[in-house]
Amino acid sequence: MRQTQSPLFVTLLNHAKNRVVSFHTPGHKNGRGIDPRLRKFTGRNMYYMDVTVFPEVDSLHDPQGPIKKAQQLMARAYGVEHSFFLVNGSSSGNMTMFMSACAPGSSVIVSRNAHKSVMAGIVLSGVWPIWIQPKVDQNLDVLFDSSPDQIKDALDKYPEAKAVFVTSPTYNGVTADLVKIAELCRSRGKILLVDEAHGPHLKFHKDLPVSAVEAGADMCVQSTHKILSALSQGSVLHVQSDLVDVTRVRQMVSLLQTTSPQYITLASLDLARRQAVTQGEKLLGRVIHWAEEGRKRINTLKHFRCMTREDVRSRGYDMDVTKLTVNVTRTGLSGHEVEDILAKEYKVQVDAADLFNIIAIMGIGSDKSDVERFVDALTEIDHKYHGSAQNWLLEIPTLATEMVLLPRDVFLNMKSKRVPLSKAAGHICAQTLTPYPPGIPVLIPGERITQTIVDYLGHLTDKNIRVVGQEGDTLRSIKVVTPR
Ligand SMILES: Cc1ncc(COP(=O)(O)O)c(C=O)c1O
Repeated sequence: MRQTQSPLFVTLLNHAKNRVVSFHTPGHKNGRGIDPRLRKFTGRNMYYMDVTVFPEVDSLHDPQGPIKKAQQLMARAYGVEHSFFLVNGSSSGNMTMFMSACAPGSSVIVSRNAHKSVMAGIVLSGVWPIWIQPKVDQNLDVLFDSSPDQIKDALDKYPEAKAVFVTSPTYNGVTADLVKIAELCRSRGKILLVDEAHGPHLKFHKDLPVSAVEAGADMCVQSTHKILSALSQGSVLHVQSDLVDVTRVRQMVSLLQTTSPQYITLASLDLARRQAVTQGEKLLGRVIHWAEEGRKRINTLKHFRCMTREDVRSRGYDMDVTKLTVNVTRTGLSGHEVEDILAKEYKVQVDAADLFNIIAIMGIGSDKSDVERFVDALTEIDHKYHGSAQNWLLEIPTLATEMVLLPRDVFLNMKSKRVPLSKAAGHICAQTLTPYPPGIPVLIPGERITQTIVDYLGHLTDKNIRVVGQEGDTLRSIKVVTPR
């Protein structure tokens, strides 16, 4: 099979063209039953591709035909032993990595600025997380994931850890020194797991940071849908490891996925791989070029500052230059306010915003006119809008505490009750509480609540900062484990 082929897409296309009478799920029957307003907008063709498992189109859970071939092509494209298609995004990939690499009761070193699916992986797998605090950069107002030194210290302190889990690139496109981290893990026999949700394209252009599998990660998950051209939810889990049992990975992938995968999403993974291999260098080259042009223009504006690769490299990390992280603090507005203005007045939607930054993600489909629209809008905002200066500082308080119970036990086996915030010290937390900023959990299930943490949370409540996990408008109470 060659990389120019797309066996799954071709199978699906041929099936759709055959106009086969459907006595299988889904119930819309080749689009006939779809609400006419939707059908009018999309046309009917795509519904002939919305099929279910039968021999011609293969089964995601026991691939023997075109899905198997498409996965093999994917593995070859990335230079790994095995690639698994995922239809529930990298979220399910993160859960799969924990469940296949670590036995219940083992421990894993994890940076605390992890995506919420990492917590799900920790709960489902029953591991003890050993947390590393991310680094805060108060000049750029961004968080940096674990450095090799932090990981080395953690491995020295917890030699029993089975695996190291790293997020690279982060949402801002900052990549960790994975080559060093992989060397460290290899020399100590630890499994390296990488959440590379934001990096499916790294392998396909020389001006992008080194990717996880090239650096030597044992497993990594990529959201092909985030940057390359797969449809939403289309992600891939790659495995290249002597330390991970691939049969177990296969079982876990199957355990966590639907038995009714969206075949158009699966076929789009096949096509995205073909496109990345055959045209990635050219297409990504353009995206990189327009991103750099945009960054230069933004950096001539008075009140905006776009993070550069030099900024990031000088701090020991690298950066995916297709991401535009624009610091807005000099406007006196928050990132959320700028996001709102961009959406409502200029019809430009960014991917994320926090108090300090907006994050504009470019993908393989981005072009020059998109960047121009974005930068023209920022140029106008730069002149037109000025808020009252913010006094925010991005910081992660030092709130050391101990993990007393396994997060899994707290989630699944323990009774809980709510206690007033003022009386929470000493209890074991039964929920995750994450203030924004900085977006790092202050407490997770199984951790001891200390008086310092209570004071900090009270202080956030006084300042009207919303804590994700709170019930109601303010954080008045915390869910704690009820002693048996
Ligand atoms: C770092 C990171 N990991 C994992 C995910 C989950 O990916 P998906 O949306 O493909 O499930 C996200 C989603 O935003 C993410 O930012």
